[in-house]
This record gives sequence, structure tokens and C-alpha cells, in this order.
Amino acid sequence: MKRIGVFTSGGDSPGMNACIRAVVRTAIHNKIEVTGILYGYHGMINSLFTPLDSKSVANIIQRGGTILKTSRSEEFKTIEGRRVAYENIRKEGIEGLVCIGGDGTYTGAKIFYEEFGIPSIGLPGTIDNDLYGTDFTIGYDTAINTAIQAIDKIRDTADSHDRVFLVEVMGRDTGFIAVDVGISCGAEGIIIPEDAGDTERIFDFFGRHGKRQKAFSIIVVAEGDEQGGALELAKKLNKKFPEIKIKTTILGHVQRGGSPTARDRVRASILGSKAVEALLKGRKNETIGIIDNVPRFTSYAEAIGRRKEISKELIKLGEILSS
Ligand code: F6P
Repeated sequence: MKRIGVFTSGGDSPGMNACIRAVVRTAIHNKIEVTGILYGYHGMINSLFTPLDSKSVANIIQRGGTILKTSRSEEFKTIEGRRVAYENIRKEGIEGLVCIGGDGTYTGAKIFYEEFGIPSIGLPGTIDNDLYGTDFTIGYDTAINTAIQAIDKIRDTADSHDRVFLVEVMGRDTGFIAVDVGISCGAEGIIIPEDAGDTERIFDFFGRHGKRQKAFSIIVVAEGDEQGGALELAKKLNKKFPEIKIKTTILGHVQRGGSPTARDRVRASILGSKAVEALLKGRKNETIGIIDNVPRFTSYAEAIGRRKEISKELIKLGEILSS
């Protein structure tokens, strides 16, 4: 292998740049050339290539976002799009790929390998932490710390005004962010897609007679919760308890930006480096994650097909500590 390509795809996450840097520097260490593919699969289809050397990844380890840009490509979902992508990367002399992103990224890389035989290694880059095959994804630690800082500030004003705040955190399909953030902020309630009874418990919390009435409360709501996120929950609560002053804050994309934490930088660096070594050893069609502090391979099929579960104990802990 003389040249590899690296790209980021799907939602950006803090630490992607640290990962790109590790890919490039490890490749150079092993005398391999690296092409950066801009905007993920879209860039493959449109030949948006840029050579990367040691200097091009200087001074990026501390930066959020991704210097390679990112996108979600509809065209790559078609065989015609993938054929054009294949021809372009062959012309560019790319013999292997490091694909940083979420399950959509893994799915694209898997099909691409099956159809055109381009070996690739997928790395978990998403703030949601919802990828099987790794304990933590790149960007998750930064995102939860960003959310915690914001909620600590909200707590001050909630306290001053005796208000209830519903704070919506990201997490399209899962409540990883909500659970960790909720526990860390001492939230009075955590609403996640994985816990069917959580909304009822919130109603209970506000309705119970004799229970210590807290003057203010913070309820953390995962955006992907089946009852429709924080705004919907606020409507339901307002209807049931019109006397309570409820404010809603959607933290949104603030959680996706910012300088990565040390944890994310180290994870991203390990994974980027391991991906290059893996390609050089002839590994392909797999993801690398870190489980119990050890880098581990998981096939694309397994990483896509299996669901990572939130610890039930952690959900229970959130419930116990909120009372
Ligand atoms: O997957 C990461 C994520 O931030 C989710 O938490 C969120 O639902 C989604 O991306 C938002 O995507 P977009 O930025 O394209 O609106």
C-alpha cells in the first residue's frame, strides 16, 4: 500500500481533527502517502482531494470540527454514485481508506468494499456515543462536558427564579448523552428513548403529594425521546400542571463544537494511528474502537447490526439520585 485516503462523514465531532492528524503522521512514519477526501463520500464522487503531509495537520489537534469538512451524501447511496467514487479514488491512487464517522459512514464503507473491494477501516466519530464496538466515540466526552457547563449555568437561573427547566440534549436515537449529563448535573429527571416509564415518573415527580417539593428542577431530555423532545414534554407538563413555571432550553449544535477534551484527543490519536497500522497489516471491512481501554476490532456488519445498550444500572442511578 503506497497511498491511503482519509475522510470524515456524517455529523462532525470534536476530536476528528486529532484523529486525522494521527492518521497522517502514522502513515508518514510508515512511508505511506495520504490523500484527504473533502466532504466525505460527496468528495469521493466529486474528486475533492487534497494531499496531506505532516505540516498540513499541524496546529489542529486542539480544534473542533473537521478540517476535511463533512456531509451526508445521498448520491453515495446509489450504485452509480459509488461507481464514480471508485473510479475517482483509483485515479487518485488511493488503495485503502480510513473512514471517520457514525453508522452511516460504516454502512457506506461496507458496501463500497463489497462492491469494489476497497479496503477500509472505520473509526467511531460522533458525539452520540451510539456505536457498537467501542465504549466511547470520538467527540462524546467533549459534548457531555459542553452540555454540563451549559446546564450548570442554567441551574443558577433556575434556582434564582424557582423555575423548572427542561433541557434538551442531542442524541438522535439514544440517551447516552442525556444519562451521563443528567447524572453529572444532578438532574431531577432524565428522559431517554431507552426508558419507557420515564415520562410517567416525571409526572409523578411533580404530582406527588407529601414529596419534598423542590423549588426548582432540571430535567434533561434526549432529543430522540419518543414522546417528542423537550418542547413536547413542556406542553404536556404545562397542561397537567399549569401552576408550574416551565422553561425549555434546547442546547443543540453547541454540543457538537469546541476544543476536544484530553480524553477525546487521546482516543482519537490512538484510533487514527491504529487504523493506519491495521490497513498496512491487510485488515479491512472493520471498525476499531476502544473497549476496556484496549483497541479492538469489530466487523462493519456487527458494528452496524448491533445496538450498544446504555447500562441499566446507570439509568437506575440517575433515578435514585434525583429523588
Ligand atoms: O449524530 C450526531 C447528531 O448531532 C445527533 O445528535 C443529531 O440528532 C444530529 O447529529 C443532527 O444532525 P444535523 O446537524 O445534520 O442536523
